[in-house]
Amino acid sequence: MTKVGFIGVGRIGQTIAYSTVMDGFVDEVFFYDIINELPEKFEHEMRHAMATRGIKTEIVATNSLGDVKGADIIVITAGRPRKPGMSRRDLFLENARVMRDLASQLPKGNPNAVYVMVTNPVDMMASVFQRFSGRTTISTGDQVETMRMRSFIAKRLGVPVREVEGFVGGEHGEDAVVLWGTVRVRGEPFREEGLSRREVEEYVKMIPDEIVRTLGATTWGPGTIIKDVIRSVALNEGRVMSIAFPREFQGEVIHVSEPVVVGRSIGPSLAPLLAEEDRRRLEEATGKLIEVFRANLKYLVPEERSLSPSRAM
Ligand SMILES: NC(=O)c1ccc[n+]([C@@H]2O[C@H](COP(=O)([O-])OP(=O)(O)OC[C@H]3O[C@@H](n4cnc5c(N)ncnc54)[C@H](O)[C@@H]3O)[C@@H](O)[C@H]2O)c1
Repeated sequence: MTKVGFIGVGRIGQTIAYSTVMDGFVDEVFFYDIINELPEKFEHEMRHAMATRGIKTEIVATNSLGDVKGADIIVITAGRPRKPGMSRRDLFLENARVMRDLASQLPKGNPNAVYVMVTNPVDMMASVFQRFSGRTTISTGDQVETMRMRSFIAKRLGVPVREVEGFVGGEHGEDAVVLWGTVRVRGEPFREEGLSRREVEEYVKMIPDEIVRTLGATTWGPGTIIKDVIRSVALNEGRVMSIAFPREFQGEVIHVSEPVVVGRSIGPSLAPLLAEEDRRRLEEATGKLIEVFRANLKYLVPEERSLSPSRAM
């Protein structure tokens, strides 16, 4: 019996929920949002889609967080999305307040859930949620960049995407790094023949901004990729994915993506097997992320003191 809670059913929440239910591996889902009628009307849409496929998944649609109970996995997409031209990091304070609030409520009814963060800036939001909830939280991190990278190489070199391997790590966003030592095309290391590393790196960083500018939001790509993360946790598939899980670094619990085995528990990480240059670039990206995280936390910490949360590891 697998129960998955969706906290926030806006654009990305709906897309992930749709992909998850249509994949047929969940028994019950919760749709929660603060907008009146939104979860309920989304439930109708989902039931119509499920009817044509003969899928039977129980749905609880609600505006009350207390109705979300006993979930195995909680997927958080609640909060503000960025507008064209904004960085994901610009969303920190507003969305961190949402995470602090959810962290104080969700664990009561869902003590054994794995919490999957999607809201941006996703790695820092996972760290904030974990800090205030004390629950294991993962960020979907760079699995999205990983698939963007593979799809671009496949298209440009005219090879099937299944013949492209490799991972992107670091922060989801500005400091994502292509881990070139892991990239293989038709089983061979990536060679700059007809496509340069720089072109791939630029595509991975630029394409989400272009999609947000043109379509208003990224949905179908991350929606499907994040469904696969949820599936790997729910079914204990043990797929290797580039997601971010909690790690202590310079005295702070932070989330930075690296290739790791994803199942009901997360790990082991494949980082020790990476080429030296890839490990160095990952560490550099981690150092930059921790600086940004600390700078942002300064704004949240005065509020944190007045609310006196328990600092969780
Ligand atoms: N990690 C990724 O790969 C990825 C991909 C796409 C979007 N995102 C992020 O996901 C977030 C949502 O994006 P979107 O396009 O769905 O935005 P959206 O505005 O369409 O949906 C956000 C939803 O969150 C709800 N919400 C706000 N506060 C809430 C609360 N306290 N409790 C419950 N629900 C609440 C809103 O009512 C809304 O329905 C953004 O931060 C966006 O940047 C991340």
